[in-house]
Amino acid sequence: MDTKDLPSVDQLSIEELTAKLEPDLLPKHIAIIMDGNGRWAEMQHLSRVAGHQEGIKSVREMITVCLELGINALTIYAFSQENWNRPVQEISSLMGLLEYYLSTERAKLIEQGVRLRTIGRLDSLPASALQWVRTAEQETSHLDRLHLTVALSYGGRAEIVDAVRELLHEAQDGNLRPDDVDESRIQQYLYTHELPDPDLLIRTSGETRISNFLLWQLAYTELYFTPTLWPDFRRRELLLALLEYQRRERRFGRVLSTVST
Ligand code: FPP
Repeated sequence: MDTKDLPSVDQLSIEELTAKLEPDLLPKHIAIIMDGNGRWAEMQHLSRVAGHQEGIKSVREMITVCLELGINALTIYAFSQENWNRPVQEISSLMGLLEYYLSTERAKLIEQGVRLRTIGRLDSLPASALQWVRTAEQETSHLDRLHLTVALSYGGRAEIVDAVRELLHEAQDGNLRPDDVDESRIQQYLYTHELPDPDLLIRTSGETRISNFLLWQLAYTELYFTPTLWPDFRRRELLLALLEYQRRERRFGRVLSTVST
């Protein structure tokens, strides 16, 4: 058969897309910038908070698909430091949604074997939201089927600043000399020090920026941008992203023949 007669991925069913995945070539860690909730809501003539509510359904579906495929880490950008500049009403709705999500979802997360962690300057969160975060982190701390990291009040530059401060404290205490500082030492002080770097970053809604997300960790990550708005980013969209990821050569700056895996 001529290749032009082969169906394009857009014409394939979810089952066919899933069958095309190569289990050995799946990313181990996916990071997502969930963008476009507001525009989705506007298009449906709904309030922005309705867009965020629908976005939570996409989060649930990402967790389910990652678990099914054996992808071990998922990091989602739920609230950036810049998001504090949004209208007070929207911030309060987002914090309310976070509390609602954590309080209603924790039993399911435990049942699914999901460990929830957060990264960011969490001391800026309202006390009740912070309380729910700490409870969910504690209750899931023994689980490891999926490491779900939720970035909250997060900024990539702030994370690096915090790491540098920690290093300087160590130096001040006499436990660190300039020559001791190398990449792995810095990595130890990042919020994500327990996770491998993401293999794949997905950003929805057509924007093609990193927006201060995981600046250090994304150095060699494959970037995938899609016009799909976050509330519409479900199983099919994730499968398309994974197939595109598998298609790309991952060379880490070397020539292909020297890459052993
Ligand atoms: C960006 O859309 C999305 C956010 C700022 C928040 C993402 C939050 C959720 C999906 C829900 C909360 C998640 C958890 C885990 C509780 P936008 O509002 O910037 O959309 P726009 O660019 O179209 O206005």
